[in-house]
Amino acid sequence: MTLPDLGALYPDHLRVLARRADEALARGGFDHLVVPSGSLHYQLFDDRDYPYAVNPQFKSWLPLTRLPDSWLVYTPGRRPQLVYHQPHDYWHAVPAAPSGWWAGHFDIQIIRTPEEALVLLPKDPARCAILGEPQSALGGFVPNNPQPVIDYLEYQRAFKTPYEIALMRQAQVHAVRGHRAAEAAFRAGASEFGIHMAYCSAVGQDSNDLPYGNIVALNEHAAVLHYTDLERVAPPSPRSFLIDAGASAHGYASDITRTYAAAGHDEFQALIDAVDAAQRTLCAAVRGGVDYPQLHIDAHLALMAILKDFGVITVSPEAALATGVSAAFFPHGLGHLIGLQVHDVAGFAASDQGGRIERPAGHPYLRMTRVLEPGMVVTIEPGVYFIDMLLDEVKQAGNAASVDWARVDFFRPYGGIRIEDEVLCTDGEADNLTRPVFAAQG
Ligand code: GLY
Ligand code: MN
Ligand code: MN
Repeated sequence: MTLPDLGALYPDHLRVLARRADEALARGGFDHLVVPSGSLHYQLFDDRDYPYAVNPQFKSWLPLTRLPDSWLVYTPGRRPQLVYHQPHDYWHAVPAAPSGWWAGHFDIQIIRTPEEALVLLPKDPARCAILGEPQSALGGFVPNNPQPVIDYLEYQRAFKTPYEIALMRQAQVHAVRGHRAAEAAFRAGASEFGIHMAYCSAVGQDSNDLPYGNIVALNEHAAVLHYTDLERVAPPSPRSFLIDAGASAHGYASDITRTYAAAGHDEFQALIDAVDAAQRTLCAAVRGGVDYPQLHIDAHLALMAILKDFGVITVSPEAALATGVSAAFFPHGLGHLIGLQVHDVAGFAASDQGGRIERPAGHPYLRMTRVLEPGMVVTIEPGVYFIDMLLDEVKQAGNAASVDWARVDFFRPYGGIRIEDEVLCTDGEADNLTRPVFAAQG
């Protein structure tokens, strides 16, 4: 896959951001947008810092994920300004001099200490929308995070620019390289930890860069939705492997899940294939105007039809949905918005002026209730799991007869299945960002 020309795409991205900032400032009644990049956080009673996480409002403007104590200032009608903290420091690596496709679009001032930013920020903090965490406060510049400004910017962030989509495609390329290496490590008999290391090595990213902690689960561990414990020893008989792992590209995330069966476990492989086919159908249904919560309900019905076919449930998909039996097997949401954050903001936003679209009753973990619109990127991640805690609740609710428990016993040692891709919503056909990359890296 050829690398995109980010320099060609970035000016339009910046124009979109400026337009959004103009409107957000007008709504909030402010003259300047001021965005600190954030600073290091320290562990309690210790001098060890946590991995630095840049303010997403900052990295929406700039691909600078390792530049603490810096500031972006945008004033309508003017070139954006970047106060760039490059300390004199021989203990740590310091940020290199500004360079890259973005650098020529900013007025950049270098500072050597965080306090030097004060004289470079606008005169009157009261005229500024300051978007950041409390500990970024500097003098009178205390983050005020005005709600009308945040609501507008977060709502609009769901609509990705071509620059952002190019970076999200790159994040897929990095992650798929890791997924290929992880599958090979699984087939070679590696432990969860070994598979994780193979993944990180192939991607060239570790926990400081990855958009979330790798979920690498063998056998029953696949039934733990966010399993991140990473056993150091391989199980004596590997049967199944679920990997949910992404990568970052200049601050943009990918979030991909695949499930594999060990050789000889044909019935579990057939169940994976059925979930995979259903997942593709759901991905293809992504398009402007589709109600995402409805797609989530469609996923329940599709997955329950599979479990019926495989003899795991004894009732119709509709009955399983109505009684909550389906939620025991598929206990999370269909997916979420993704971009600068793996679970991107504003999945519940009713409008760019705030408000919330509630989840449908009985679906407490759905993370996206908006109607799909062109430019959104969502994950589509159906799954089926064999989770004793939830299956006990099925029994307690009087629905034991809806399940063939011998079939649960058969599949329990495999844990579960999840298949997850990113899909770009358009006016026409869905654009699956993930599948073509697996095909190209076959
Ligand atoms: N990796 C977390 C998720 O799929 O949402
Ligand atoms: Mn995931
Ligand atoms: Mn996800």
